[in-house]
Amino acid sequence: MIKDFTIEYRTNPIGIDVNPRFSWKLEGKGKNVTQKKYQIQVIKSGKMIWDSGLIESDQSVLVPYSGGRLEPMSVYHVQVSVWDNHGEMGQKTGKFEMGLMSNDNWKADWITHTIPVEETMCPVFVKDFDIEKKVREARLYVTCCGVYEAVINEKRVGDVFMAPGWTSYHNRIQYQTYDITEMLEEHNNVSIMVGNGWYKGYLGFDERPDHYGDRTALLAMMHIVYTDGSTEDIGSDIDWIVETGEVTSSEIYYGETQDYTSKKSEHGNAILFQNTDVIGSVTAQESEPITITERIKVKDKIITPKGELVFDFGQNLTGIVEIKLPKLSGSKLVIKHAETLDKDGNFYTENLRTAISTDCYVYDETSIGKCVMPHFTFHGFRYICVEGVGEEIDAGHFTACVLHTNMQQTGSFVCDNKLVNQLQSNIIWGQRGNFLDIPTDCPQRNERLGWTGDAQVFCGTASYNYNTALFFQKWMRDMNVETTPEWGVPHVVPNILGDQEGAAGWSDAATIIPWKTYQIYGDKEILAEQFPLMKSWVTFIRSRVSRNGLWQTGFQYGDWLALDIEAGSTDRTGGTDKYLVANAYYAYSTKIVRDAAHELGLEAEEREYGRLYEEIVNAINKEFVTESGRMVSETQTACTLMLYFDLVKPEHMERVLTTLEQNIGAHRNHLTTGFLGTPYLCHCLSENRLHDLAAEIFMKDDFPSWFYAVKKGATTIWERWNSILPNGDFDESGMNSLNHYAYGSIGSWLYEKVAGINCLEPGYKKIKIQPFLTKGITEVEATYESAYGTIKSAWSCKDGKICADILIPANTTAEICLPEKEETVFVGSGEYHYEYETSTNLETQKYSTESTLGDLVAEELGVKLFNEIAPGMLDNPMIKFAYDMTIADLIQMAAESKPLYQAVIDALNENEREYYEN
Ligand code: BGC
Repeated sequence: MIKDFTIEYRTNPIGIDVNPRFSWKLEGKGKNVTQKKYQIQVIKSGKMIWDSGLIESDQSVLVPYSGGRLEPMSVYHVQVSVWDNHGEMGQKTGKFEMGLMSNDNWKADWITHTIPVEETMCPVFVKDFDIEKKVREARLYVTCCGVYEAVINEKRVGDVFMAPGWTSYHNRIQYQTYDITEMLEEHNNVSIMVGNGWYKGYLGFDERPDHYGDRTALLAMMHIVYTDGSTEDIGSDIDWIVETGEVTSSEIYYGETQDYTSKKSEHGNAILFQNTDVIGSVTAQESEPITITERIKVKDKIITPKGELVFDFGQNLTGIVEIKLPKLSGSKLVIKHAETLDKDGNFYTENLRTAISTDCYVYDETSIGKCVMPHFTFHGFRYICVEGVGEEIDAGHFTACVLHTNMQQTGSFVCDNKLVNQLQSNIIWGQRGNFLDIPTDCPQRNERLGWTGDAQVFCGTASYNYNTALFFQKWMRDMNVETTPEWGVPHVVPNILGDQEGAAGWSDAATIIPWKTYQIYGDKEILAEQFPLMKSWVTFIRSRVSRNGLWQTGFQYGDWLALDIEAGSTDRTGGTDKYLVANAYYAYSTKIVRDAAHELGLEAEEREYGRLYEEIVNAINKEFVTESGRMVSETQTACTLMLYFDLVKPEHMERVLTTLEQNIGAHRNHLTTGFLGTPYLCHCLSENRLHDLAAEIFMKDDFPSWFYAVKKGATTIWERWNSILPNGDFDESGMNSLNHYAYGSIGSWLYEKVAGINCLEPGYKKIKIQPFLTKGITEVEATYESAYGTIKSAWSCKDGKICADILIPANTTAEICLPEKEETVFVGSGEYHYEYETSTNLETQKYSTESTLGDLVAEELGVKLFNEIAPGMLDNPMIKFAYDMTIADLIQMAAESKPLYQAVIDALNENEREYYEN
């Protein structure tokens, strides 16, 4: 009767340092199931330490442990019992184990090595020890300045990569807990290798090393509990030995070199790490770790025109390549990584800028057949170029290993339109590629930083696809500690770019992400924890406003990369007035702080920010909208932000909406928006009776549009609308990532508007299902695994019938508003099926007599058919003048040509249909 019992969002977690909260999902059969009461009992070593008693409540998400003090390194068993309104009762058990809870519990020293600074080999800290008694349980607690990999008795400990993850190391650093019970023997060898990682490695635009310190260091402790009840701690100290092995260099941007011919060398004993004051508090791992989540085989072997040996994995991804070492023809095996080939089919790495992204393996006959992979780097790639082996090499030697934060997938969206499904896949892969412990802008070039703007625009979509509660909670904590009253919220978190004043749309991540996270997961603790940060961002802007109450100074990214700049301009901040953008976000953030204060019961703050919000909205209208409702900046993004953030006075709504519609029309129903306008454009149109226009913009497949990239073969979301130009050239090489998730923010429109899944009360306690029929899609099925259970919305509209299948999880309620139905249906949990007649036809025919002759001959098939049916027609030098004319016009001029054009139109539409279906 209950399922998915989780503790702090995890199943049976070990090594947590927080007061845990318990969540479960009811599975009651039938309709209108709600929870009547629950009871939670927590047991330690057979003794009950907390019994909640019978609680009459429907709370089933994030119920806090409210017993006595929890002990470090101790295991607690939990039993939850639940009764529903139909008299059903269910029970689930789980357990959790506390971490070290306090820095005082580390029976270990921070240690480092004496290897010369200019040396690139990765130090390995080694300890041999014997145990005499039988082990009941053993744990390894470990962290480092750098990134580590631990091995016990020649076996890798755990499956985590790039640990301890990236935090604001000066303020806080995470440790990880591993169960090593089964790994210990009588004689033990522990070796922990440490790479430079984000701590000491080369990072940022200036590619400087040593952002946090110039020496890697380790803190490790094994805690062993013997069967007789006694315990022993073996901690890092100056008895540990330092060695170097096969990893001769490793850098995130540059890749890793391993030399299996070099001998292990010893570098004496470890020494105490003196600079512990550069590191902040050591805290337990907060989010899911980075692991290999998928292994992908080579799809194609290519010899490029330049003669390069290239393997294609068929998917742009982030990770590393595992190699079964082949026989060498040269002196070493070199693996280069690239996202794409150029238009001639050659290996293309210019868009990586100076990120060399190359792994090297030096070895002799004795290592052939060994399985290897880099330890402390990752690459953004679809293709690898291999050097040092003969062309006959078998593709089976190479496997791409996908790396990212291992979040639970929570959303799915499938429909009968192949392009839409590919786009959804690209969005998911964009997220997988860039949720690598922190939300990064891109995974391939010499950047890979936690850009706040990118994360802010994508966080809604991201949270449909995966459970991001812990991921964002961890990252927001770093944002919190890196925010100052002087500079505001940084542009990247962790901030390695130095002091820069906060910027609109980027620094607003401070308010938008906690608020979104609260709405999606119903987690008030996250909201309360981040509330001071949310306030401080608004306070920062407030300290910058001019006499008119508006923020009109300082650097702004504006509507980054928007297309509506003046012709010839190289400005990347778009055509929308940058201060309109800044103040729209100022108002939006202020409103969020007001609403958050309301949720947290902070009445004084709610009033204060409510007043401020009114003032800002008035000031914005004075400055940016004329008395008759004309916007001073009439771009798509300006109108969208004003409408979506609810800043337009009621009497001006129609005018602003018309301005938006006209602007879109002037661009042949294409978008021109950048990072800040794009996430809201389609939402805004759908919510303001222009859903068909939103659908038309969305369904475009020529530049600029989402499907332009899909049709160009993209398998992730591009940084620019035209990262690759129609002729196959690259827009530019400097800032041209093919794996940037910002424009993937359209994903939330697919879930919320096309499928119609919406949250009315935090955590989806109350749901709204309101699908919008969308031309070009006749069948949709979307699911979202909410805190209460699976929500499903599936609909079809074809052959004169609309069908809808909706699933509402137990312990929630929903409003269902179906297309072409007037009334809203209020329901409880259960499965609902609807079927009714319609005259709506959502199928699209791409070609018609409204198409131009140019449209028809833009397709290879069109040219072929004209040449077959009317040989010589296209060779007439005058025909080019007819390219801009519609077929309707041409038929009017020569009625006898009608069957010819109709045949071509029909064939092209048929071809399109097959393309969508297969
Ligand atoms: C990043 C972006 C980021 C931007 C700030 C770029 O280099 O890749 O995605 O938001 O800088 O303007």
